[in-house]
Amino acid sequence: MKIGVLTGGGDCPGLNAVIRAIVRKAEAVHGDQVIGFRDGWKGVLEASTMPLNVAAMRGTLPRGGTVIGTSRTNPYKIDDGVERCKRALEELAIDALIAIGGEDTLGVANKLHQDGVRVVGVPKTIDNDLSATDVTFGFDTAVQIATDAIDRLHTTAESHDRVMVCEVMGRHAGHIALHAGIAGGAAYILVPEEPFDIDEVCAHLKQRHSSGRYASVVVVAEGATPKEGTLAVQDKGLDAFGHVRLGGIGTTLAEEIEARTGFETRVTILGHVQRGGTPTAYDRVLSTRFGIGAIDAVHDGAFGCMVALRGTEIVRVPLAEAVGSLKTIDPALLHHVAEVFFG
Ligand code: F6P
Repeated sequence: MKIGVLTGGGDCPGLNAVIRAIVRKAEAVHGDQVIGFRDGWKGVLEASTMPLNVAAMRGTLPRGGTVIGTSRTNPYKIDDGVERCKRALEELAIDALIAIGGEDTLGVANKLHQDGVRVVGVPKTIDNDLSATDVTFGFDTAVQIATDAIDRLHTTAESHDRVMVCEVMGRHAGHIALHAGIAGGAAYILVPEEPFDIDEVCAHLKQRHSSGRYASVVVVAEGATPKEGTLAVQDKGLDAFGHVRLGGIGTTLAEEIEARTGFETRVTILGHVQRGGTPTAYDRVLSTRFGIGAIDAVHDGAFGCMVALRGTEIVRVPLAEAVGSLKTIDPALLHHVAEVFFG
């Protein structure tokens, strides 16, 4: 078979491990030819490809990013985009396509599948907000990076008697904030799922500081919003999938905390540091299992599905289900676990 692979959306630790696994099993077990489409759906649109083989993938298991590039190109937002994609796949004689991405990339894969393209999806996002899989690869690495950062911020908070606000990624869901916040011993955690009350945040910090503790780390997801729109979030425009570009709530929060409590406050925005660099061992294993699962699905003719982790098993779920709804945080983890340590 001739198999095309693409990576779309934000880069993510473990992408190369998925590609490596696909290539290894495709070439060594099935004698397939694998090609990479450069920069996500853009590469399919422009028929821009690169050869992928076992030799080319050597040494990439621990490497962050994606060797085939990525972009947020949406063929459904481009005139003739879908026709161009289908034509390119036909001219290149691609028998099957493996799309590795989050809700946007897999949303395109799902529509193309309905349009007759033979495609299998692999879930990727550090945000871990795809409901059809228990975990996405990249999440564990992002949580570890954020936890390391919070640990470091604690020492500055303690040395300077400060509140340190740490903004982490998480546009619609607060999984990174919640997990890294619990792991790092945050004094407060703010997530997109539950609009926050700035008075409540400040009251907790005041109470905490009055009881002898003088240093606090507040973890906020970039998509967290204040109740009733009381604090403005910077508008940075939309991307090709119509998402607001975020970033700024941490700064606003730090300014408000300092103004309302009088505690010296600083902000650290972790940003893309959370997506860069080498994947954790957990993510390398999950990525490898997803890659093997994807090539197995291709050879079983199970098109229109996404591989997913359910419990300890790799399973196949329909792409339509995979992009249907967002996985938000477990409220019990916030209210019955994390909150015990607030204030
Ligand atoms: O989708 C993952 C994610 O990390 C989001 O949490 C974040 O909002 C977004 O990517 C930012 O990506 P970029 O700045 O690369 O467009």
